[in-house]
Amino acid sequence: MSPRRQHVPWNAAGTASEQEHSADAVVRETGWVFNNKEHRSLADFVATGDEETVAYLHAFGLYGDQVAQQELVEIGSGIGRMTASFTRLFARVVACDLDAAFLERCRETVAQFGRPERLRTSHVADGRTLNLPDDSADLVFSYITLQHCHRDDALGLVRDAVRVARPGGHVALNFRTWVPSDAVLWPAGKVVRATWRLPRIGPVIAKRRFATRLGWQANRLAPGHVMDEVGSLLQDVTIFRSPRRRSFAVPGTADGQFEGVHRSHWWLVATVR
Ligand SMILES: C[S@@+](CC[C@H](N)C(=O)[O-])C[C@H]1O[C@@H](n2cnc3c(N)ncnc32)[C@H](O)[C@@H]1O
Repeated sequence: MSPRRQHVPWNAAGTASEQEHSADAVVRETGWVFNNKEHRSLADFVATGDEETVAYLHAFGLYGDQVAQQELVEIGSGIGRMTASFTRLFARVVACDLDAAFLERCRETVAQFGRPERLRTSHVADGRTLNLPDDSADLVFSYITLQHCHRDDALGLVRDAVRVARPGGHVALNFRTWVPSDAVLWPAGKVVRATWRLPRIGPVIAKRRFATRLGWQANRLAPGHVMDEVGSLLQDVTIFRSPRRRSFAVPGTADGQFEGVHRSHWWLVATVR
């Protein structure tokens, strides 16, 4: 199967990250693909992850003494912005990413800022399947990743997240859905994604911050659609949203609000049956 064009910018950034001498240089040069707007140092970048992991786990009711015994799977770890913190909180962490070079950098980040002896990495070679056993994780977590996948791949990863979480374990998965500005952003993104497949210039365009940020949000998924896929396998489902948007009102789910959720984002937080 030929790779999805959505893989192009991530593999381009991953390849660029291989060409740097350190994870710190990577975060300054290619950190923008992880929303590192100010070209901060790796230490600053990891500090943003330290805050966010704890804030989200708290907001979702998943934080407590129990995590020190648990295994967490992170889908879309990138170079380890949040992974370093997860290794300090959880007994075992499996960082999964589409790009193998990012996983190398993730190991480096965790070696500097986390607990490397608690980390394993797992390459998501086809962009849709986790190479991990069934019922093995206490929590499967994913942040700003599923929106970047082809829609079918995102749904494949959601099904796999549920497969990998043990019965009674949890999933906390972040998605992007429609906002009014998508009337402009969505068609512009389609054009950019089409260019990524062009021979020679595609990978060059994929390294341009402005174009890539337009193109990389490859899907919009609504809570109802994701629930249609995996709802029967879950219980105690809460859809977390920004207080600045209305409830999604999906039957069989509770409505949760958290200030830290972007207006265009929502989270599926649930227990696996
Ligand atoms: C915006 S970064 C977010 C990284 C990290 N979650 C964070 O918050 O810093 C998105 C990550 O998702 C990865 N990714 C994109 N598509 C993917 C896919 N189909 N499967 C697994 N990882 C993917 C990219 O390689 C990248 O590392």
